[in-house]
Amino acid sequence: MLIRKAVFPVGGMGTRFLPATKAIPKEMLPVVDKPLIQYAVDEAYAAGIRQMIFITGRHKRAIGDHFDAAFELEYELEKGNKTELLELVHAIKPDDMDCVFVRQARPLGLGHAVLCAESVVGDEPFAVLLADDLMLGRDQAEGGPTVLQQMVAAYETHPGTVLAVQDVPRSETRRYGVVDTHGVNASVAEVFAMVEKPTPEAAPSTLAVAGRYILTPAVFDSIRRQPRGAGGEIQLTDGIAALIGTEKVYAFRYDGKRYDCGSKEGFLEATIDLALANPELSAAVRAHMLKALG
Ligand code: G1P
Repeated sequence: MLIRKAVFPVGGMGTRFLPATKAIPKEMLPVVDKPLIQYAVDEAYAAGIRQMIFITGRHKRAIGDHFDAAFELEYELEKGNKTELLELVHAIKPDDMDCVFVRQARPLGLGHAVLCAESVVGDEPFAVLLADDLMLGRDQAEGGPTVLQQMVAAYETHPGTVLAVQDVPRSETRRYGVVDTHGVNASVAEVFAMVEKPTPEAAPSTLAVAGRYILTPAVFDSIRRQPRGAGGEIQLTDGIAALIGTEKVYAFRYDGKRYDCGSKEGFLEATIDLALANPELSAAVRAHMLKALG
């Protein structure tokens, strides 16, 4: 297995979802019945990754609890013969999954969060998943590959840094890391430059990075050398950009859909789409929506 470890930066405050995120981490907000972080962890597991590294902060205990055993709950479910629910609870953390928690003492940015994983990752390539971005592979529901699985396959033919990218309207470049592929539109294209949150005028293209990365261990030193970037934060984008020329960096156009669950609109879209795709809910949700719009 080439990519064995995944890093989940989950230290952010989630201010866009206050008051919901006052006492619970934004990554624990459920889309239908599963917290955002579990979608990302499931995606990494499906890609063959077994070590999950969470970069946490204060008020994030619920994430640790979610991936831990829940003795009383399991005892009660067992006693009540609720086998299906028990399996559902066990499946959150299969026995061969290893969870590591690293505290990011100060919120200095995404690059800094990734740097906090250095001693656990060591000298090997690894994945980074931003749980805010809920990603669904196009045929995932029918057993097709998840976005990270697609990226691992791309990495096998193009070893180096692999960034999940998608086209966005030029007016939205300010929200993303944006790459320059010299206009190449292939599913895997070499990246020649990368900028964090450029204005629409300054953006080198409209190819934006979604929250999935395969990174090489060289990124750690590179991040360490960066001054504070956009928003006064230590940016992952800057660390990756500084590797260009030394190592190959690729933009990978994933086949699937991204929901920006860091925004209320994206979160609601994900909730609606996944509820409509859920066999137990879809008829009722569809009927309700028709009535509500009617
Ligand atoms: C982060 C990254 C940005 C990337 C985005 C994807 O930004 O810094 O490069 O395009 O995630 O969601 P954030 O959303 O944390 O502001």
